[in-house]
Amino acid sequence: DNYCVIMGGGIGSRFWPFSRESYPKQFLDFFGTGRSLLQMTFDRFSKIIPTENIYIVTNELYAKLIKEQLPELKDNQILLEPTRRNTAPCIAYATYHIKACNPNANIVVAPSDHLILKEDIFLRDVQKSLDFVKENEALVTLGIKPSRPETGYGYIQSSDTMLGDFTKVKTFTEKPNLELAKVFYESGEFFWNSGLFVWNVNTVLSAFEKFLPEISARFDLGKEKFNTPEERHFIHENFPYCPNISIDYGVMEKADNVYMLCVDFGWADLGTWGSLFDIAHKDENNNAVLKNNKALMYESSNNVVAFENPNRLAVVQGINDCIIAESGNVLLICKKEDEQRIKQYVADAQIKY
Ligand code: GDD
Ligand code: MG
Repeated sequence: DNYCVIMGGGIGSRFWPFSRESYPKQFLDFFGTGRSLLQMTFDRFSKIIPTENIYIVTNELYAKLIKEQLPELKDNQILLEPTRRNTAPCIAYATYHIKACNPNANIVVAPSDHLILKEDIFLRDVQKSLDFVKENEALVTLGIKPSRPETGYGYIQSSDTMLGDFTKVKTFTEKPNLELAKVFYESGEFFWNSGLFVWNVNTVLSAFEKFLPEISARFDLGKEKFNTPEERHFIHENFPYCPNISIDYGVMEKADNVYMLCVDFGWADLGTWGSLFDIAHKDENNNAVLKNNKALMYESSNNVVAFENPNRLAVVQGINDCIIAESGNVLLICKKEDEQRIKQYVADAQIKY
């Protein structure tokens, strides 16, 4: 059977001030469609995965928000982390839980903050990958042809070895520096990791045993408690001891059974303001003003303007290539090219104010 794990526990700090620790970006309705990114992710998968097999893993802080946004989920489909430990422990938790429900499950793991423009192609590719991992002990990642030397992504190096439509991966490099990203981008051999993974429950458990034994040893202690009333207590006691590491650094960079399906389904990672700018509607001077916002723009180009309060009027003159975003008590104005530094601004703001 097929299962889906949606990871919804990130803070989205590069999308500050819209995305806050108390209300991260996956819960926001960026496009005025009435559905948040998380809801859109759930809607998408529910077309090919039975709804009762879709799990959300998130921090305890967001339990209430998840229940509000996805009332169709039963309590046992919301897996709650007592502490933030990044994506490797998050995926391990979901894997142990699902294994207890179905010892031979095939799983698609997905982020909750992506936009997919061509849904039919997306669903076809996910289905194809689920069928592939049923037959092959492979860790599958969906790869995207890169369009710039972005440093915020993982880079997958393809090889000539193919198994059907799936390429054996030579190397996986998470978030290279700019110099390396440029080399990767220009070589033409590299693809971006979309952050979507597909595998059989036993294949990924072997990978955890091999590369993150601290995590699997910890969860093995309570193997028989998953999917029972004792699971919550066990997780509370043990999850905080997991190392803080992402699946990309912890498993994907190290494993030698990684395969990639090269995909093109209109993928946009809403990781930063710049990524929103890239896909947003722009005016004649290439300014992206968020839907429902009012702005008068003079001699200004290539800006992204986003105010949470639709009654606010932005009057902007002589400003180029900037992020102008306001939410709650924060107004952020910074160069688009410096958006990776927003994480630091958030930290400084917390210390000083
Ligand atoms: N439950 C849970 N717990 N979810 C988490 C946690 C956590 O501790 N940390 C992050 N997430 C969720 C986020 O909400 C997001 O949906 C997903 O996991 C990925 O985390 P990000 O923090 O957004 O990762 P990233 O963007 O830096 O990098 C990943 O995605 C890129 C593509 O968007 C990597 O997989 C890269 O290799 C990839 O290119
Ligand atoms: Mg991301």
